[in-house]
Amino acid sequence: MERGSKKGIRRRCLGAALALCLCVAFFLVCCDKEAKEEEKKAVRIGVSLYRGDDTFINNIRTELEREAKLYEQELGIKIQLDIMDAKGSQNTQNIQIERFLSLGCDVLCVNPVDRTNASVIIDMAMQEEVPVIFFNRQPVEEDMDRWSDLYYLGVQAKESAVLQGSMVVDLYQEHPEELDRNQDGVVSYVLLEGENSHQDALIRTEWSVQTLKDKGVPIEKLTGGIANWERSQASALMEQWLNEYPNQIELVISNNDDMALGALDAMERAGIQTIQVVGIDGTTSGLEAVESGRMLGTVSSDKEQYAKAMLEIALHRVLGRELSEDIELEDGKYYQCPQKIVKKID
Ligand code: GAL
Repeated sequence: MERGSKKGIRRRCLGAALALCLCVAFFLVCCDKEAKEEEKKAVRIGVSLYRGDDTFINNIRTELEREAKLYEQELGIKIQLDIMDAKGSQNTQNIQIERFLSLGCDVLCVNPVDRTNASVIIDMAMQEEVPVIFFNRQPVEEDMDRWSDLYYLGVQAKESAVLQGSMVVDLYQEHPEELDRNQDGVVSYVLLEGENSHQDALIRTEWSVQTLKDKGVPIEKLTGGIANWERSQASALMEQWLNEYPNQIELVISNNDDMALGALDAMERAGIQTIQVVGIDGTTSGLEAVESGRMLGTVSSDKEQYAKAMLEIALHRVLGRELSEDIELEDGKYYQCPQKIVKKID
């Protein structure tokens, strides 16, 4: 009886000890989980811009900052954006990436200076296992295929160009006299091109012109030149062309809005209003020029969606959130932002 009750007491003690151990283990698991959830309440994103003074990139930056605030409110987390300007130097950008990694950024958004030379950035990020979302300037495929945590986000260049060309086609079909001002049967154009190493510049140039040809608009190229996306460089080129080809230019095809605005600046200085000008980007200043009737039209990318996609991919990687349904990744890593024609509705 005595032995039996001692056994019983021992068994009860063992049971209690086991229960206590289970409680402690459960408590520790809960604490750990809570700690992890706590960690995830702040996401730090390092953003490096190829040039902070580029108008389109600036528009994207503004939108990114705005969207980050909206996500903070919606998800109840802190999103810290560290944004740096590489000022056109790949070396500076590499140093910025190194710094972001040492600061413990969870993810990097990189607008590479030299898109053919992204390997240094990729090496550093791979070593620290920090995902990279490249944007606007697409690294070469060989680099993009090096790691599964690399993404690219941009706007499809061929689509921009075909839409740009189709604006001119529509005008020619409806009011040919507004393009072929001197009624000689051909539309004489000049072409303003972006950086020659940029995938967008090469493809846009090819497909804008091809679209006009495909749709039967009779065209003749007077001249063209590289103005590196810049308003002032385009303005200087256009001034020169207006002198070289007096009363001959009927259309300016520009690879982006800023260079289109540069051409308009030169036309204004020369007191000329009869030349049609088309751009691409839909920057704030570009859209204003369309609205005021100075520019025939632009192809506007959806900046809100651009910024949203960047944050969606970043939060998906860091927090394991599902991507929203409208963000479909091609090959699991490429996202093309939607765009549309914007013309003045009179
Ligand atoms: C292009 C854009 C240009 C310029 C450039 C910079 O896609 O149309 O305006 O921002 O990117 O890489």
